[in-house]
Amino acid sequence: MIAFDIDGARLLGAAATVASYAALCLAVLSKERRKAAAQAARGQAPTAGVDAKPLLIVHASQTGAAEQLAWQTARALRGPALPPRVAALGTLAPGDLATASRVLFIASTCGEGDAPDAALPFVRRMMDAASAQPLSGLRYGLLALGDREFANFCAFGRRLDGWLRRQGARPLFERIEVDAMARSSLARWTRELGRLSGAGDALAGSEPACETWRLARRTHVNPGSLGAPVFHLELEPPAGATPDWEPGDLLEIQPPHASAAPRPYSIASIPADGRVHLLVRQERRGDGELGLASGWLTAGASTGGEVAVKLRPHRNFRLGDNAWRPLILVGNGTGIAGLRAHLRARASRAGAGAGAGPAARPRHWLVFGERQAAHDFHYRDDIEAWQADGTLARLDLAFSRDQAPRRYVQDCLRAQPALLRQWLDDGAALYVCGSLRGMAAGVEEVLVAIVGDERVQALKAEGRYRRDVY
Ligand SMILES: Cc1cc2nc3c(=O)[nH]c(=O)nc-3n(C[C@H](O)[C@H](O)[C@H](O)COP(=O)(O)OP(=O)(O)OC[C@H]3O[C@@H](n4cnc5c(N)ncnc54)[C@H](O)[C@@H]3O)c2cc1C
Ligand SMILES: Cc1cc2nc3c(=O)[nH]c(=O)nc-3n(C[C@H](O)[C@H](O)[C@H](O)COP(=O)(O)O)c2cc1C
Repeated sequence: MIAFDIDGARLLGAAATVASYAALCLAVLSKERRKAAAQAARGQAPTAGVDAKPLLIVHASQTGAAEQLAWQTARALRGPALPPRVAALGTLAPGDLATASRVLFIASTCGEGDAPDAALPFVRRMMDAASAQPLSGLRYGLLALGDREFANFCAFGRRLDGWLRRQGARPLFERIEVDAMARSSLARWTRELGRLSGAGDALAGSEPACETWRLARRTHVNPGSLGAPVFHLELEPPAGATPDWEPGDLLEIQPPHASAAPRPYSIASIPADGRVHLLVRQERRGDGELGLASGWLTAGASTGGEVAVKLRPHRNFRLGDNAWRPLILVGNGTGIAGLRAHLRARASRAGAGAGAGPAARPRHWLVFGERQAAHDFHYRDDIEAWQADGTLARLDLAFSRDQAPRRYVQDCLRAQPALLRQWLDDGAALYVCGSLRGMAAGVEEVLVAIVGDERVQALKAEGRYRRDVY
């Protein structure tokens, strides 16, 4: 599947590098705190490197790396001299930048050189607006996250940088671009922060350790499939631990290769299940070798053995404000994993609220696609049970190889324009999980054809169109 070529390894060096970066920042700040405390004791104002106004740390993130980095930066820089505020770019009010004096931006690029979905309100309201916003009082630092495997490397970070300069904002240092969370680029960023906060670059840190969980169960779920083998995995936290996550979140797996970056997987279960369930496709690389993480998880690790993991919040794919909306859930292949977590949560909530009336049971429309129903109908028992108990108001299945011409999830939506409009008019939110190319792009094309580009962009801006695509 093309989508897997995007390579979570390169994407998700995030956690490891983010973590080491956070530790570096902690060192910066403890030095900064000592300095500010000394200044306060002497009745002095903070040094030139420290502004009296709160530092604003702004993230534009699709799968959570930039956001995680922003929060870790803030935690590290918290203190009397630099009490930072963290905000998502898309939530900034027009005056926020004009009144700020120092802003640190951490901006990733997603899709094919696009802004993260959650940043779109800012892009439309500010960056695409004809009138300029004078930002001559603003000084900023910008960290652009990207991956050179994509044609438009760091395109959104570059665009944001250009826009800021055109508004008169002045960079504190040259934009720093990070390829697949390369440590060298993050170290440059850390040095700049150290310089700004007066702590120099004498920063050092270590990565927080992954947690050791146990691979409790592994089942090959698609024997005989035309596609690569897919496995349902269950990972168990250590006895006594009660890990918390929300549907939509990811589990990062650290392959047991010293230099390998962690890979993210969409969580298919809810905390009440007691285990993290994953649906992992066994990847085979161009050189014929098994993918590092997926190969290890599906063929290398032994059941009962240890796995190094880290839970990663993925706020863009959580329910958030959509908790009581009807949901249209669209996914292909292993993308059913992230949708299953949402359906499990909603089904259990509806069970708990039985008798509370229709409001307690918002409707769900699941559109799932794979190759052959006989082999690739992942989580069939769950899906059929949800159909039977009314959790699913509607189910569309697209098994592409079961008929000619081939049929995909986007074709199911294309066939139901009136129904799609009706669900959206009723307030539904749309969650898409699975392949970026092919599936997610095709779904978006159909959406635009049915409800128009403006409405699609508005749904994204409202957080009613969320994607976990890879
Ligand atoms: C937000 C998100 C959610 C995800 N959720 C899931 C999920 O639920 N289920 C799932 O199965 N996957 C999921 N993924 C993908 C997953 O993170 C991994 O990217 C995937 O399993 C492949 O990782 P790997 O280590 O097995 O393969 P890698 O070893 O990283 O190889 C992956 C690809 O990189 C290329 N490559 C790398 N090295 C070489 C080499 N030496 N020679 C030739 N080619 C090479 C090949 O194109 C290969 O196919 C998700 C990704 C993201 C970003
Ligand atoms: C589906 C997808 C599409 C991406 N597209 C691009 C791209 O066009 N250009 C780029 O430089 N990086 C691209 N990336 C890489 C991300 O920018 C990089 O992994 C970043 O660390 C993600 O940060 P985030 O988790 O905050 O979104 C893409 C990543 C994914 C998962």
